[in-house]
Amino acid sequence: MRTRGPGAGTRGALAWAVPAVVSLATAPGARAADAVPPAYPAGFSSFQANCAVCHGPAGAGLPALAPPLLSYPARYAASVEGRRQLALTVLYGMIGDISVDDKHYNFQMPDFARLEDATLAATLNFVVFDLGHAPADLKPLTTGEIAGERGLALDGAAVREHRKSVAPNGS
Ligand code: HEC
Repeated sequence: MRTRGPGAGTRGALAWAVPAVVSLATAPGARAADAVPPAYPAGFSSFQANCAVCHGPAGAGLPALAPPLLSYPARYAASVEGRRQLALTVLYGMIGDISVDDKHYNFQMPDFARLEDATLAATLNFVVFDLGHAPADLKPLTTGEIAGERGLALDGAAVREHRKSVAPNGS
């Protein structure tokens, strides 16, 4: 091997390095997916495509920018107004100061009204059940619960106002 010259040596090194880099880059996601396949695979895909850029691939959020989705959405899903709040958030977005687990976030979430009802329901179910570990006897969000909130005269500020009625600490 070593006597073949620098060209062969370089190719050898690259052949080793490239798979190593690729496997380092994909290992955490691959391990998580291997360990527990998501209960809502379509929601998982949609979440990675539409939400992960701000909320992170596992929903941990970004400090001071986008809130974590690991506990509040699962709590919202246990009440009628909380379920509406989840649908309103993805349909109309949200803007303004909120607090989650006593940490403040004040940025803007865009609306995702362009996505289909079934996609939005699956995405929220991924958040509530796969990320939030809501109890399995909780009813998954339905396409009807999304469709029923479309066409309202609401914007991200109004969605934040409505949030006060369902947030654990009222803010
Ligand atoms: C551009 C960044 C961005 C993207 C993309 C994004 N969000 Fe958000 N999201 C935010 C921000 C910022 C907030 C908080 C808004 C505020 O500060 O008023 C938020 C809030 C939320 C909340 C409310 C949490 C609570 O405690 O009330 C939910 C639920 C949520 N996002 C889900 C999603 C889902 C599902 C998607 C994908 C369909 C998504 N987000 C995409 C930035 C984003």
